[in-house]
Amino acid sequence: MTKSVLVSVAWPYANGPRHIGHVAGFGVPSDVFARYQRMCGNKVLMVSGTDEHGTPLLVQADKEGVSVKELADRYNRQIVEDLAGLGLSYDLFTRTTTRNHYSVVQELFRGLYDNGYMIKETTMGAVSPSTGRTLPDRYIEGTCPICGADGARGDQCDTCGNQLDPADLIKPVSKINGETPNFIETEHFLLDLPSLAGALEKWLQGRESWRPNVLKFSLNLLDDLRPRAMTRDIDWGIPIPVEGWQDNNAKKLYVWFDAVVGYLSASIEWAYRSGDPEAWREFWNNPETESYYFMGKDNITFHSQIWPAELLGYAGKGDKGGEAGTYGELNLPTEVVSSEFLTMSGSKFSSSKGVVIYVKDFLQEFGPDPLRYFIAVAGPENNDTDFTWDEFVRRVNNELANGWGNLVNRTVSMAHKNFGEVPTPGELSDADKKILALADETFETVGAALAESKFKIGITAAMHVVGEANAYIADQQPWALAKDEEQRERLATVLWTALQVVSDCNVLLTPYLPHTAQKVHETLGREGVWAAAPEVREVSDDLPVNLVGVGLPEENQSYPVITGDYESQQAAWGRVDVVPGTPLAKPKPLIQKLDPELGETGPEWAPVQSA
Ligand code: MF3
Ligand code: ZN
Repeated sequence: MTKSVLVSVAWPYANGPRHIGHVAGFGVPSDVFARYQRMCGNKVLMVSGTDEHGTPLLVQADKEGVSVKELADRYNRQIVEDLAGLGLSYDLFTRTTTRNHYSVVQELFRGLYDNGYMIKETTMGAVSPSTGRTLPDRYIEGTCPICGADGARGDQCDTCGNQLDPADLIKPVSKINGETPNFIETEHFLLDLPSLAGALEKWLQGRESWRPNVLKFSLNLLDDLRPRAMTRDIDWGIPIPVEGWQDNNAKKLYVWFDAVVGYLSASIEWAYRSGDPEAWREFWNNPETESYYFMGKDNITFHSQIWPAELLGYAGKGDKGGEAGTYGELNLPTEVVSSEFLTMSGSKFSSSKGVVIYVKDFLQEFGPDPLRYFIAVAGPENNDTDFTWDEFVRRVNNELANGWGNLVNRTVSMAHKNFGEVPTPGELSDADKKILALADETFETVGAALAESKFKIGITAAMHVVGEANAYIADQQPWALAKDEEQRERLATVLWTALQVVSDCNVLLTPYLPHTAQKVHETLGREGVWAAAPEVREVSDDLPVNLVGVGLPEENQSYPVITGDYESQQAAWGRVDVVPGTPLAKPKPLIQKLDPELGETGPEWAPVQSA
């Protein structure tokens, strides 16, 4: 049965180019999942965009000496290139500085406010004594008042996972310049989480299929629920749509309040751009639709608590009741899928420390699929994982090139050389049947894994078939059969079997290696688009905005989006029969082998650090 599946992917901050740590967490896993869902015939909507408000942008703009708008424009473009280059198949990848996003965010805020879930309070805000500017929570560090860990941030302690207020920290210091902040009284709107706790808990209790660590973490958060400020003393962000506040340029909505609403606003923008402005409702109002959220682990709180709380409050489902706004009742996440961190030689990827491998450099030198493969097979799915050039080279050479590339190459070469086409098989031997059965069964194994976002299990099972197929060829020795005229029918049978298994493996690997899959499709003598690639398109900010809409950005600004025509691709989950008589050409090498020395030195642009 086909279903509708919303694939919501965390929005990268537009404060720099993406490094491979970023795409390991949210990028590749979400794309493998979305591609698999499409191959199953499900209706998929995959959305995201650049997250362009908040202090991460302000701080970087200061550093680069440019305006924050300039910074956002520049890195939005760069990130679009990075993600499209990796083949991430977004239906829409947009940005948070669009008129539509502002307006949708304000509608959500108004809904929560009108239902009573936004409460006005006087809180203590941190101010830099040297500049007089407010200091964002994330940029204040100190000792955690709950678990005593050092390095807790003003918004959260990563050691115990609790949310904090900067004023709670013991010995707070500014990460920007090390000074001790002053605290002053300031008014804000707080999301009344305690009045939504009951509804949140009820919803979380029903989430049995989540990864246990995510569920446990999310349930634990409920023990210490306090109202959380959803506005900030900052001049870069979305205006607060309340009389007396909306024209105050010194206060804006909290970046996290606005960013998570992006999933909805991007869906609305996608619907408009696809010519059916109501099409987003299938993904948000139909309770049968499943929605999956992909992110790094530092984002869990916002997706398993803040965003669901915003949705419940907007629908009027907390203790204070209320009515759903214009958008109606919106679906809560079916699943929150989070990854751990990808590290490089032990330290978390960080541009500021110079430990960084940019996606752009990586793509230029190696193309997208080797990185996609590495992340899928050796990435931080369940544990923090270290990236080393040594392991990258080993996996690309041994597994991708010698395993998969070689299987395709020798099978098609021999078939081409001996028959010039897909040969017609004779009677199948037990060995032929066995390898065909293994390939056939593996659709279910890999499919079950992918449906549960178990990407490592999936690719390992697919590569197991590749290994068995290589062993089958070694056993059957088609090169020996080729020397004996009397064995011609057996040769045809072996090569037909091997070609069918190559075709099967290619289907199994398509979500992981879409670019390679397209090439294999052609190598097998097939035509047309097997696995669609995303496209970058320039659009104008021209959506009709008829909701709240205060302090909107300028009309008709031009920006790039990632989108694509994935519906007409041929890729489908299951065996595609290889047809005898299909002409075969001499195959080109599929996977470029890497110089083993690269494993020791790393490339010039990211040399291996000596210990
Ligand atoms: N920009 C945030 C980060 O990089 C992620 C935002 S995810 C969102 O940590 F979708 F909620 F925006
Ligand atoms: Zn702590």
